Amino acid sequence: MEAKTLTDLQTLVSLCKRRGFIFQSSEIYGGLNSCWDYGPLGADFKFNVKMSWWKAMTRRLDIVGLDAAILMHPMVWKASGHVDGFTDPLCDCKSCKTRFRQDTAPTKDGKTVCPNCASLDVTEPRNFNLMFKTYMGPVEEGASIVYLRPETAQGIFVNFENVQTSMRKKIPFGIAQIGKSFRNEITPGNFTFRTREFEQMEMQYFVKPGSDMEWFEKWKETRLQHYDRLGFKKSSLRFKEHGPKELAHYARAAFDVQYEFPFGWQELEGIHNRGDFDLTQHSKFSGKKLEYFDEPTKEKFVPYVIETAVGCDRLCLALLCNAYTEEKVTKATEKTEGGNGAPKDAEAAADIRIVLKLKPEIAPVQLAFLPLSKKPDLQELAHKLRDDFAQNWRVDYDESASIGKRYRRQDEIGTPLCATIDFDSLVDKKVTVRHRDSMTQDRIDISQLEAYLAEKMKTF
Ligand code: GAP
Repeated sequence: MEAKTLTDLQTLVSLCKRRGFIFQSSEIYGGLNSCWDYGPLGADFKFNVKMSWWKAMTRRLDIVGLDAAILMHPMVWKASGHVDGFTDPLCDCKSCKTRFRQDTAPTKDGKTVCPNCASLDVTEPRNFNLMFKTYMGPVEEGASIVYLRPETAQGIFVNFENVQTSMRKKIPFGIAQIGKSFRNEITPGNFTFRTREFEQMEMQYFVKPGSDMEWFEKWKETRLQHYDRLGFKKSSLRFKEHGPKELAHYARAAFDVQYEFPFGWQELEGIHNRGDFDLTQHSKFSGKKLEYFDEPTKEKFVPYVIETAVGCDRLCLALLCNAYTEEKVTKATEKTEGGNGAPKDAEAAADIRIVLKLKPEIAPVQLAFLPLSKKPDLQELAHKLRDDFAQNWRVDYDESASIGKRYRRQDEIGTPLCATIDFDSLVDKKVTVRHRDSMTQDRIDISQLEAYLAEKMKTF
């Protein structure tokens, strides 16, 4: 079977809209730039991606969860360095009026070039703060300014003592959080890759100074293992170290996990050694000591922090790009489709099949029940099975169009298994289960279906 992977983002954008994964926000009003809504399948998919991360983090004995507020005391952002330093250099092109980031624009003889029209007639860069501001309460005045958080990390730092003492955690330990962040990006784009509202999944791991680089290396390895489990091809991920000039103000060391998107290698996740920067800053600004007392050694110290930070939306996009496959269906593969007494319907009406090869853990639908025809007896059994299996699995039901077309629909949304209910099913109490990737089929006794699914899902 010939297979083709994703080469242009637009193909995926169309699939996401057509199949209810992702829609343009406020589309009926012409859309809102760089804002996206997750449709029914997208919402389920994103939820599963979050759950997978949450489990990987909080099922460990040394990591606990947190859900902090988006709005925080404005001093938090003074202490963290965001009020003064969370800026991008912004230029305006005097010829075509494009606004762009100077640090990512091309240069010629040391001069900034407009990325839109190549003009050299551009303004001097000025610092543009990326934080969204709003007002707390009814009075719109300076004293009531609050910010929409630009990262979830600060909610963890300011709760360090609350969490450590309430949960009696001993160092090393981590705090994990999933939540919305907001950045007024100058150049958002590439679908959900860079947006102004996005969800982050961040974990701050508090360690004894001196053991930080060892933990930094361990976390790099642990995060790669997670990506391996999610089904990323090894060759599509790589580490990129930040040079001294790229390091953020808080970082002692930083590596990006990069993914090869159709638009090139880009950051997926940041792994940072933040040292004691954040806890020291919050101690200074709040007047509250944020130290850890190590009982066995009777030492007091400010812990160092190893951070893993990934955007959930960006990870979902990478997973969809990674999963997208176009396969040329040959006569031989068509034959297998009709094996095992299953419907020999024209499964391969079109000779290209689009498959999202998602792992069952994150696929929006895991199992679809398909009655072979619209006969009430078959529909009734299919509905009953759907209802029963909805207890433990994410299930779907589809009775419209030919069985071949229905298989294709499920392939396109990444459903690992389909169970077809035919006339024999009423008598022998068996269904035909069809495998998304191999397109092979097994005839399974309904009483054995639960156990079969548990085993079969592991083969994806
Ligand atoms: N607390 C550290 C921190 O926020 P970051 O590298 O600025 O580090 C972490 O962000 C991750 O958040 C990025 O690797 C990316 O996946 C995601 N992210 C950042 N800005 C984003 C944006 N504008 N749109 C979508 N995802 C974004």
